[in-house]
Amino acid sequence: MEYFKDDSTRFQQNNEYLINPNPKNELLKSRKIRIGILASGNGSNFESLVKASISSSISADISVLIVNNPKAKVIDRAIRLNIPYRIINHNEFNSREEHESLIIETFNQFNIDLVVMAGWMRIVTDILINTYNNRLLNIHPSLLPSFKGIRSIERAFNSKIKITGCTVHMVRQEIDSGPILIQAAVPILEKDTLEVLTKRIHFYEHIILVKGVQIAIDKFL
Ligand code: GRF
Repeated sequence: MEYFKDDSTRFQQNNEYLINPNPKNELLKSRKIRIGILASGNGSNFESLVKASISSSISADISVLIVNNPKAKVIDRAIRLNIPYRIINHNEFNSREEHESLIIETFNQFNIDLVVMAGWMRIVTDILINTYNNRLLNIHPSLLPSFKGIRSIERAFNSKIKITGCTVHMVRQEIDSGPILIQAAVPILEKDTLEVLTKRIHFYEHIILVKGVQIAIDKFL
């Protein structure tokens, strides 16, 4: 029942990335791409990217993790996997813009080329979006454009639909709305509990996030 849909060709046909080409493109040919991760919680998507990098399923290094929540479990994963991390707590800043400015400064220290929001529970502003133009990805646990926003799995589960899924997309100003790189369709079975469905969606998230990151690297960096 499940399938993956790589939507990046349509994105390419729109020539959207050609209008704003990445100026680092030439430079990147001479060295390995460096990914920065933004995460707020559990970190299973972060871990799947780290393992994909270690096994060369993506041609990039996971160079740093930035966390906004000092209690996030993802920090334990970063320690276990030996990935540098920085806690940049949004509560210590007066505005989203100030918070994001320090995030960008930190990514710059690590020469980050591509940023992945892997469970980043913050609305992002133009500052981050424009700095990483077409180089800022998000993973969302629904078949976008359905069930944008929070509690997407729960809302899909409580609806009458039979298929939900997950999506990797470029980040734009409107929440959960940017060009889609890849999606997985995931069935909602009659005997499912919310917990079982959540686990099934996470399983597919880990697969499409790795594929989506490689699509972004191949086509847009
Ligand atoms: C995932 O479901 C992702 O789609 C959403 O937040 C969740 C993060 O899970 N944006 P984890 O922290 O990667 O385990």
